[in-house]
Amino acid sequence: MNHYLQYCKPSLSAALTSIGLDKVYHRAEGQYLYYSNGLGAEKQVLDLLGGYGAVLFGHNDPAFRQQAVDLLQANTPFHHQFSIRNGAGALAEKLQPLLRKETGWPEPFRCAFTSTGAESVEVAIKHSEMSRGQKLELLSKQSERALEQLGLAFAENTTLSLALSEAQAMLHPELTNASSDQAIAYVSKHNASVLQQPPVFIALEHAFHGKLTTSIQLTHGIMYRQPFRRLGLRTEFVSIAQLERLCHGDTTWLDRPSLLLPKKTKKGLVLEEVAIPSVAALLVEPVQGEGGVYALTEADAKVLHRVRDMLGCPLIADEVQSGSGRCGSFLAGSQIGLKPDYVVLSKALGAGLSKLGVVAIRSGQYAEGFDILQSSTFAEDEMSCQLAAAYLDRLAEDDGRALSTVRELGEALLVALKELHQTYPDVIKDIRGKGLLLGVEFQDQDHAPAHLIRTSAYQGALGYLLTGHLLNEHGIRVAPPASAGNVLRIEPTILLTQQQIDELIYALERMCLALRYQDTGYLMHF
Ligand code: F0G
Repeated sequence: MNHYLQYCKPSLSAALTSIGLDKVYHRAEGQYLYYSNGLGAEKQVLDLLGGYGAVLFGHNDPAFRQQAVDLLQANTPFHHQFSIRNGAGALAEKLQPLLRKETGWPEPFRCAFTSTGAESVEVAIKHSEMSRGQKLELLSKQSERALEQLGLAFAENTTLSLALSEAQAMLHPELTNASSDQAIAYVSKHNASVLQQPPVFIALEHAFHGKLTTSIQLTHGIMYRQPFRRLGLRTEFVSIAQLERLCHGDTTWLDRPSLLLPKKTKKGLVLEEVAIPSVAALLVEPVQGEGGVYALTEADAKVLHRVRDMLGCPLIADEVQSGSGRCGSFLAGSQIGLKPDYVVLSKALGAGLSKLGVVAIRSGQYAEGFDILQSSTFAEDEMSCQLAAAYLDRLAEDDGRALSTVRELGEALLVALKELHQTYPDVIKDIRGKGLLLGVEFQDQDHAPAHLIRTSAYQGALGYLLTGHLLNEHGIRVAPPASAGNVLRIEPTILLTQQQIDELIYALERMCLALRYQDTGYLMHF
């Protein structure tokens, strides 16, 4: 029995076997992965999945590989934590001009390094809550001072009473006719409880920000989040339309608790209401990958900026998948004028060989002292930092030739896929994405005449059936995003050729015909 199946992923392995995806890849080079067909023959697979976005320049790129070998041979220190890490410093410095140019912020960015995408998201979350905590601390002091003043005012004038608004009288009946001591105790308790409320995070529909205990709470896919819902973190998943309505005053879905701050005015002693920063962060992916390949627009970016300003919370761009060049610019968000306060990167930044993530926070938003609280054994390691720095150099070579190649290839692929969509609108529902992060959405097959197609569609597994078919019949590797079973995600490397685009289109066209004529035999031919 296969040990992976036996000891690591019993359920997943069984699923992989059932759809012909149980390949054992023994070699990876450039755009290709290789497995043995069991009869001694090596089979070549065109990898259009790019390690879910982690491989932009191809598998085992010779220059990056040589660099890794050189670093090992030079006995480079990898585990010299708690010292000055020059590799991390040099990488952070290299990121500065890119981040400034692409976000439009003129200030430096502080970089917290990690090892994975989800870890980076968790670090961003931690930071946003620390920074919210610092603001709450100031408000808490303000509340204490105001209450002291209230005590003094009552002591000076025993007939003084609070002038409550109608709404306040309704919301806080305990304050009507309260004695001075009772009023002080009530306001003090109210403020303490407001300041203790856990933060709210806002994420978008179809969001995917990772699968760790905190980041999973920001991942919209119910299947992944549901079993862990009791672990905390309050997240509101919203559409851009909902955020737009928020800008116009519709706060029905969002609690905005306020402190009561007693203040002497001409009208007498009033309770000023000051909304606390209840939202710790607003998180977005400029191009969502795992949720089904949805890209934000310029208009969406404007709404996000308004919400960020209105709520006084940081806007976090999770560019783990869409960034590092995958969409044709260093940050996908720069194509729509997105101006995030934090940028989260990982995946491709590791040059396809190392595990690295980074949270870059603009210095105006940086919570002093955070770097002392946040660390990890494997973060800032020399190998991944040096590979990532070389990766950035590669993106910049020849005036950014790599990025223009991503844009050109992405455009050629998009045009070809859109043509296919026009020919098979009954089978393909939509083509979307940016650069080399594209998605093909299939029409609903829930009522298809063919039993197998209907049942796999019903189980949200149509994309998996098609994936197995493309791999076994055409030697092409793609996969559906885990939260969108009727979408095929296409994330090729920069080595893609026109001939390979044609091969993909040919394979997809055969598949479209099989779906149109419900030819289960052809689709199951693996
Ligand atoms: N954020 C985004 C936008 C991602 O796409 C991913 C991973 C993560 C965070 C988490 O990164 O896996 O290194 O912990 N996306 C993969 C996918 C798994 O299917 O697209 P990780």
